[in-house]
Amino acid sequence: MSAEPILRVEGLSKHFPVRNVWKRRIGWLRAVDDVSLEVSRGEILGIVGESGCGKSTLGKTLMGIHTATSGHVVFEGHDIAGLKPHQSRKYREHLQYCYQDPGASLDPRWTIRSSLHEPLIVHTALKEEQREQRVREILRAVGLPETHLDLYPHEISGGQQRRVGLARILTLKPSVVILDEPTSGLDVSVQATILNLFLDLQRAFGLTYLFISHDLSVVRLICDRVAVMYLGRIVEIGATQAVFETPRHPYTQSLLAAIPKIGGPRVTDSFALEGEPPSPTNLPSGCRFRTRCPMAQPLCAEQEPALRADWPAQRAACHFAE
Ligand SMILES: Nc1ncnc2c1ncn2[C@@H]1O[C@H](COP(=O)(O)OP(=O)(O)OP(=O)(O)O)[C@@H](O)[C@H]1O
Ligand SMILES: [Mg+2]
Repeated sequence: MSAEPILRVEGLSKHFPVRNVWKRRIGWLRAVDDVSLEVSRGEILGIVGESGCGKSTLGKTLMGIHTATSGHVVFEGHDIAGLKPHQSRKYREHLQYCYQDPGASLDPRWTIRSSLHEPLIVHTALKEEQREQRVREILRAVGLPETHLDLYPHEISGGQQRRVGLARILTLKPSVVILDEPTSGLDVSVQATILNLFLDLQRAFGLTYLFISHDLSVVRLICDRVAVMYLGRIVEIGATQAVFETPRHPYTQSLLAAIPKIGGPRVTDSFALEGEPPSPTNLPSGCRFRTRCPMAQPLCAEQEPALRADWPAQRAACHFAE
C-alpha cells in the first residue's frame, strides 16, 4: 500500500431537502454529515451501520450520482466533489459504484451483451469488435460462460446478476470500486463464492474496494479497515481487528453485541441496542447517539464529540470512550 491515499474524503455532506405537501422546504435531512476518511491503494475499507444511516448516500455522493452539499472528494489527486458531471467524467471513470440492487442496474429489455457494451459505448471510443473482445475477457474474469451474453437479466440467477453488474463496472478498468451490499439477498454458499470472486478480481485488476455492508461477519472476514456510521456520521474507524476486538464507541459495542455467536461470550453483553434511531431530519443536540447510549452524560447533550485518535489503530467520536 502506498502512503498517498487513492481516495480522500474531507468534510463531505449530503443534505436532502424535506418538503411539505405544497413543495415548500421545511427542513433538511442530513443523510451524510461531515464525513472524512482516507482509502489507501489496494485496501478494502468496510462501511457498516444500521439501515438508513447513510451508507448508500455516501457511496453515491462519492460517485457523483448525488451532488455533494459540501466537502471534498479527492480521487487520484483531483478534487471531484465540486465538478459538473461532464467535467468529472474522465476522473470518475476509474471510480465505480456497484448498485445495492443488481437488478436495478441492468435493463430488463437488454441482453447481457448490450448491458456490457453500453458503458464502453458511452465512455470509450472503442470499435464494436474491440468492445466485444473486452466484454468477453471480463465475462470470463467474473466466471460467466459466453453463452450468457445472449440472455436477458430475468433468465439468470441473482448471483449471476451480481457477476454481470460487476463485469459492467470492470469493463471501464476502475481503480476504486464501491460495492453496495454486494452479498445481500444471496444464499450463504453463493455469498462465499462471490466474496472469493471479489478477492480474486482485486488481485487480478489491482482494485481498491469500499465495501458497504450491514453484515458484520462478512466485513470482519474481508476488510482491512472498517468505518462505523450512525445517522450520517462516522462514529468509529480503524483496523478491522482493533474495532472488532476492542470496540471503543458504545454504538460499535452495541452493534457487535447483536451478532449471534456460537459458543464464547459476546463482546459486550451489557449493551444491546434498543429502539429506532432518531429521525435524521430532527437530530438530537450534541452527540447524535446519546438518546440510545447507556453511557450518556449531560456533556453529551451539549457538545458533539469529534473523532478522537487516542488509540493506536482506531478513532472514535465519543467523549467518554476508553
Ligand atoms: N434521494 C433521496 N432523497 C431524500 N432522502 C433520501 C434520498 N436517498 C436517501 N435518503 C435518506 O437518506 C437517509 C440515508 O439513506 P441511505 O439509503 O443512504 O441509507 P443506507 O445506510 O444505505 O440504508 P440501507 O442499509 O437500508 O441500504 C435515509 O433517511 C433516507 O431516507
Ligand atoms: Mg443502502
